[in-house]
Amino acid sequence: MLNQYKNYFHIEPDKGLLNDPNGLIQFKGEYYFFHQWNRFNLNHDYKEWGLFTSKDLVHWTNRQSAILPDRSDDKNGVYSGSAVEKNGEMYLFYTGNTKVNGARRSYQKIVVSNDGQTFIKQENIIKTPEGFSEHHRDPKVWKYNDIWWMIVGAQTVENKGAITLFQSYDLLSWKYQGVFYTDPNLDQMCECPDYFSLDKEVDILTVCPQKRTSYKEDDQPISSYAGYIVGKMNYETKKFSQTSLIKLLDEGFDFYAPQSFLDEKGRRIIVGWMSRMDDNQENNCPTIEEGYLHCLTMPRELKWINDHLYQIPLKEYEVLRKKKQQFKNECGIISDNSKVFELIITFDKPVENFSLSLNSNTISYRDGYLEIGRINWVTKELEIKTLKITELTKVQIFCDNSAIEIFVNGGQYVFSMRYFCDKPKCEIEYKNLNEGGNITFYSYEEE
Ligand code: FRU
Repeated sequence: MLNQYKNYFHIEPDKGLLNDPNGLIQFKGEYYFFHQWNRFNLNHDYKEWGLFTSKDLVHWTNRQSAILPDRSDDKNGVYSGSAVEKNGEMYLFYTGNTKVNGARRSYQKIVVSNDGQTFIKQENIIKTPEGFSEHHRDPKVWKYNDIWWMIVGAQTVENKGAITLFQSYDLLSWKYQGVFYTDPNLDQMCECPDYFSLDKEVDILTVCPQKRTSYKEDDQPISSYAGYIVGKMNYETKKFSQTSLIKLLDEGFDFYAPQSFLDEKGRRIIVGWMSRMDDNQENNCPTIEEGYLHCLTMPRELKWINDHLYQIPLKEYEVLRKKKQQFKNECGIISDNSKVFELIITFDKPVENFSLSLNSNTISYRDGYLEIGRINWVTKELEIKTLKITELTKVQIFCDNSAIEIFVNGGQYVFSMRYFCDKPKCEIEYKNLNEGGNITFYSYEEE
């Protein structure tokens, strides 16, 4: 039988478990999205870097394994990291995870490729600086003023989240520069940090704080999420300082470990792992029967507009639009033979009440609050996320066979979620579309 959950435009593995996006880069014109991958099993016991490539960010080729845990200093996992280009060569940075008699050791490691196909591990390694536990991982590298900078997610020996900073002139030898950033919001550990300046206006630090019971324990954290902090980078003091409170990057159910990169058009693009499933949801995820788990989000362009971080769907995705239908009635039903589509609702006049059901999911706007609901596939109950949105002008929904991304007000807020609905078709019912309200529906699959 056809796998009804197989996504159409979201990157997912053909087998095994995928997690974080890694080493995102446009190299010699082509987009490279590496990712955390357990190609042997549906758990987190083994990690290598898998690779997908694309010429347009929409159609992807699965290139399978890229970097394997085959050295003594990465034998327990080629963990997350990033990519940069220098003189026509791709440099990849990852964390070599090791366990010796149960004790964790982490090394930041370097890989060089000149063709994007062969990946050569370098001998240089960066050890964890003093004052930090071995939860030291996920290097992100960038260039500023002809100097290379690397931040790494860390945990202090006092069990506090922090981010360390390193500097290099040649990308191979690195010197520790001290703590780049720390604050109580980073909880007990900070995974997958990313730093960039946006539209020459703001500096942004994205972080994944984790709550952990102690710096010694080595199992799953109690909780974690992906957030961002707006601030200022000072290259003299080599510190990032916060100017506004930490905010969520995504308002939905499934979004973690995001990474950004600058493409050749100068766009700052972000991609996340589309999961923050708890163990129960992960172990009961319906794709397990098909031999794979998890997917990435669509790439989104980051923009700083009116003092707010926007995540905007890429124009490239418009090539997927096949058939267009429009609706203006106050209430209605839209049905289609496929669950893969894009739906755009615009409101030219202020809207007070609006609701829409989309197979098992719900979207409703009432008294200034937007509510997104989905059926939890383990408990079978409706779970709800609510956000205050003073003025609702646009809702754009990208619906795949088991993944939905909802962009509100042109990317001012995004809700990402996995969903698993048995119906082979899509059925949408909407209510209270006001005068000035418009719905455009694009089928993505040919009839
Ligand atoms: C985040 C993370 C990273 C680590 C990787 C291991 O999801 O825990 O910190 O490098 O996944 O797969």
